[in-house]
Amino acid sequence: MDTVAILVSLTFLLSVKGEAPRVGYCIEKQCFAVFQDQVDFGTAQKHCEENNNGYLMTVRSLISHSILLILLGNHTGDYWIGLHLPSGQCPDQASFLRGYRWTTGDNETKFQNWGHFDDVCSSKCISVSKYDFVWKKQPCESKADGFICEYKLDSPCQHGYVFENDKCVDEDECYMAPCEHECTNTIGSYNCSCWDGFIRMTEDTNRCQFVCLAECSPKCDPSNAHQCYCPNGYFLENKNDESICVDIDECEMGECLHNCTNTYGGYLCSCDEGFDLVGLKGCVKKEPSNGSGFTIPITPIVKHPTERPSTVKAGGLLGIIVCIVVVILVMVVLIHLILKRESDV
Ligand SMILES: *[C@@H]1O[C@H](CO)[C@@H](O)[C@H](O)[C@H]1NC(C)=O
Ligand SMILES: *[C@@H]1O[C@H](CO)[C@@H](O)[C@H](O)[C@H]1NC(C)=O
Ligand SMILES: *[C@@H]1O[C@H](CO)[C@@H](O)[C@H](O)[C@H]1NC(C)=O
Ligand SMILES: *[C@@H]1O[C@H](CO)[C@@H](O)[C@H](O)[C@H]1NC(C)=O
Ligand SMILES: *[C@@H]1O[C@H](CO)[C@@H](O)[C@H](O)[C@H]1NC(C)=O
Repeated sequence: MDTVAILVSLTFLLSVKGEAPRVGYCIEKQCFAVFQDQVDFGTAQKHCEENNNGYLMTVRSLISHSILLILLGNHTGDYWIGLHLPSGQCPDQASFLRGYRWTTGDNETKFQNWGHFDDVCSSKCISVSKYDFVWKKQPCESKADGFICEYKLDSPCQHGYVFENDKCVDEDECYMAPCEHECTNTIGSYNCSCWDGFIRMTEDTNRCQFVCLAECSPKCDPSNAHQCYCPNGYFLENKNDESICVDIDECEMGECLHNCTNTYGGYLCSCDEGFDLVGLKGCVKKEPSNGSGFTIPITPIVKHPTERPSTVKAGGLLGIIVCIVVVILVMVVLIHLILKRESDV
């Protein structure tokens, strides 16, 4: 197996979560990684599961055993492997796996490497160390010096790479035509770009949208100049024998319940004070909030600031009467003067 593939696989494994293991190894679609965290058996198993649905390493064959030798070559201490006695059970000397099971749930094996074995029921989890690699029973709650995870991968390669001839090589994603307009393959990924007059859509960068301000020329079929189209929110108009896209003023069409602002290719609704926008266009009166004891006053829309409420205070009433009297007096005087002048003529 190529070392590049191993490294790439490990980067993939480790990019997910957790501490970096010092050593890893992949064979076919199986990868193994050594972690040097001093944890109990259950925590170790959980850690393997959280990274790529792994599990503590199973040593079912001589090949797995050899991989163990490679993996622990540089490590001293005890490392958990995925073998344990199911809860409530005691060892069974008669069976090949002694009643133990892999953390994958089964007891299939072509290999065993028990060391000294007794029938004690309390030590139920298995660790190994580099000195003899024998399977050693330990209490599951005790802390080993580390653990070894095993992963089954569909591909040992990182996303954007494919496994070919024992190597992870860059995948040419453009082959699958993921972009609406143009595609450029990059190492480990690809990049979409758009033709002139288009920009990448923010919600889906693989797709392109036409950019247009108040007006722009439509996109026409090169083989049929009469087959033209405009972006959404624009209509096609003929001006002096030329086709042109013109922004639709949605506000003129009364799209909003209250206030409307036209934009290029769209519109925005807003509501009067005291109202909340619902959906894109609707407005509802703000709910009076209860609980804290006071309510948000709903201020009516004041059309003419000079308009006065109808109630007038007592002082104001006196003022009005005085005004009326004064006006009548002035009129009397004026009429008197006019009449006097006419009789003089
Ligand atoms: C063990 O350590 C040596 C020297 O530090 C290194 O060259 C070798 O790759 C290590 N082996 C493993 C399996 O990590
Ligand atoms: C697997 O477990 C069954 C009982 O559940 C037992 O009869 C059998 O011997 C075990 N196999 C090994 C290899 O230990
Ligand atoms: C992808 O293409 C766009 C437009 O051509 C460019 O701005 C961007 O830098 C490119 N990104 C990468 C990762 O190459
Ligand atoms: C309508 O909304 C625009 C933009 O928010 C704002 O400038 C304008 O004052 C609003 N008009 C009314 C009548 O609320
Ligand atoms: C106001 O009170 C009603 C019932 O008294 C309750 O259903 C509602 O959730 C309350 N609203 C707020 C904003 O507290």
